[in-house]
Amino acid sequence: MPGPARRRLRLPALAGALCAAALAAGCGQEGIKLAESSPDYEAAVTFNENCGMCHTFAVAGTEGSATDPNDRERVDGPNFNERPESAEAVIYAIRNGGFSGAIMPENIVTGREAERLALFVAKYAGKSAQ
Ligand code: HEC
Repeated sequence: MPGPARRRLRLPALAGALCAAALAAGCGQEGIKLAESSPDYEAAVTFNENCGMCHTFAVAGTEGSATDPNDRERVDGPNFNERPESAEAVIYAIRNGGFSGAIMPENIVTGREAERLALFVAKYAGKSAQ
């Protein structure tokens, strides 16, 4: 009976392949700098899974922005360790695909999840100069 059960089995393999392809960006949820009990943990996971391949954000354990100019890729987005953001700006970027609309996909996350993510980014962005 090849059905949903079988499809579910294949998913981890696919995720593994994607991780291998994105080695440099880091994979999975290791690296998140919050306790699982933190109210912000879920948003950190959302960021890690949906935004981390292009944006560096230490609190979410991601290193997607370019640090080495020789290693710069076209998709590299701003580094949120260094750049503060307002929740409004993040919501705008999520809905419109960044400010330029050129590279970042629109609406990767939506609704309530997008709002929580925006508050999360605004709360921690620009604070890693510690
Ligand atoms: C495919 C790569 C990619 C992904 C995935 C991505 N972004 Fe971006 N993002 C960019 C790039 C490149 C820019 C800069 C250019 C622009 O603003 O259009 C950007 C810009 C932004 C900005 C504006 C920052 C500023 O101050 O200029 C915010 C906020 C942002 N992204 C948040 C997010 C969030 C939140 C997610 C996950 C839901 C995400 N991005 C996913 C590539 C990406």
